[in-house]
Amino acid sequence: MESVRRPCVIVGNWKMHKTIEEARTFVNNLIPSLKSSSKNSVGLAVPFTMILPLSQAAEGTPLWIGAQNMNDSSEGAFTGEIAGSMVLDAGAQFVILGHSERRHIFHEDDAFINRKIIRAVEVGLRPILCVGETQQEFEAGQTHEVIERQLREGLKGLKTTKLKKLIIAYEPVWAIGSRHSATPEIAQEVQAFCRQTLASLLTEKFAEKVVIQYGGSVNPLNAQKLLDQPDIDGLLIGGASLSLESFMQIVDDSQKSNRKGKTT
Ligand code: PGA
Repeated sequence: MESVRRPCVIVGNWKMHKTIEEARTFVNNLIPSLKSSSKNSVGLAVPFTMILPLSQAAEGTPLWIGAQNMNDSSEGAFTGEIAGSMVLDAGAQFVILGHSERRHIFHEDDAFINRKIIRAVEVGLRPILCVGETQQEFEAGQTHEVIERQLREGLKGLKTTKLKKLIIAYEPVWAIGSRHSATPEIAQEVQAFCRQTLASLLTEKFAEKVVIQYGGSVNPLNAQKLLDQPDIDGLLIGGASLSLESFMQIVDDSQKSNRKGKTT
């Protein structure tokens, strides 16, 4: 058994919230609390209009600014869409892909998400691939089946050399915005399964190193217990990332916590 120390990556997903001014104030107050020497990372996935001003504000600091979506094409007649190269040009370092709100409200399928991951990698953006089962699938005992399919199809055709920056986020759809997070035990069980699946789809070495976040009703009260689990390497936070106080508390606690090397 090998012990690997994976970084802890905390990312806020602001969804469709905040003005540029509110976002600037938030980021200017957050930055001084981030440790530049830390192996751990903190990011904010913000609306497109805020990528440029926030990436300028965060330049030279440890804070990552990212996008919440992008199109799979490099350019073209796609009214209302945005290319990966454009969000990169505006200063984004990462992009969330396959979020359940994109899958369910905007009917994005695994093949489309796969093309976006390929494009994100090509332009040099770090993809955060979200996977997760619905309440119905959870109750029907189909969690593993759904997660296996989303990982297999989402990463189709990609070799580990292309996926060095990949982050996976396990976000059970029933936990998102519900105020009922998965228990640390449930999240751990599914995330260990994600790692096992990645080992069989790609390589064991890759699976040992990849950061797997948990997302779904994370708040300052449950964050630490989730992060204590061996296969939870970070958090993707929606509602609780909108308030500077609660986001900073989660970030502070994650930076203070002396997480041991994780054994795989
Ligand atoms: P939540 O959202 O923390 O508000 O549940 C998480 C997400 O959708 O990424």
